[in-house]
Amino acid sequence: MGVVVVAAGSGRRLGADRPKAFVELAGVTLLEHALRGVVAAGVDEVAVVVPLDLVTQAEAVAAPLGAPTGPTMTVVAGGAERTDSVAAGLSVLSERVHLVLVHDAARCLTPAAVFDRVLAALERGAKGAIPGVPVVDTIKTVDPDGFITGTPSRDSLRAVQTPQGFRRDVLEEAHASGVSATDDAALVEALGHRVLVVEGDHRSLKITTPEDLAHAERLLRA
Ligand code: CTP
Ligand code: MG
Repeated sequence: MGVVVVAAGSGRRLGADRPKAFVELAGVTLLEHALRGVVAAGVDEVAVVVPLDLVTQAEAVAAPLGAPTGPTMTVVAGGAERTDSVAAGLSVLSERVHLVLVHDAARCLTPAAVFDRVLAALERGAKGAIPGVPVVDTIKTVDPDGFITGTPSRDSLRAVQTPQGFRRDVLEEAHASGVSATDDAALVEALGHRVLVVEGDHRSLKITTPEDLAHAERLLRA
């Protein structure tokens, strides 16, 4: 099984002096936290996707976590959109990889159990499986002027996370469509494939803002 860890974003909303994955949380970069989590999940191959000028720096982080005892690690430069970065990572996984997980480095505290649940669903035959948690807020859909157009039942809503797992052929087919999306499941859904939502975890938050970084620090200490 292969994992694409996408870490090539700039982290505009975090507003740090460097790309988000290279910001530290309790003295360790988000990238290293994320890679440790991926290695703990027991995967065969990892594609690490980072900004072009940080490839060498990322190799120094990835190498000690990789072979001979850990998974094969390949660092590659990402693209302008997240979808481009995922495609870059997919392209360096070996032919032997038939199941792929795509994981955001920004979700650097994802517990191993979440990886296990996604993988278990794929092994039971799902073409796609992604983690999600029930939403606590009431969600409204609105029109361009801000007027409410609907109130979906909370029971039918999930806030989804990564790692998102797919059969490799299905994910490659989705990426070949050339469409961009904020998650890979959206591309696979668009092809008409059924994607299962398995149980996520609140600790798997995506670090987006400085408040999220502070929250993650509290989670780490707890
Ligand atoms: N990502 C990526 N390549 C991009 C954009 C995003 O690899 N061109 C990755 C990010 O590094 C992150 C994940 O996709 O791990 C989720 O994206 P997001 O949280 O939006 O991160 P950024 O795009 O870096 O943040 P922002 O949108 O605030 O600039
Ligand atoms: Mg972004």
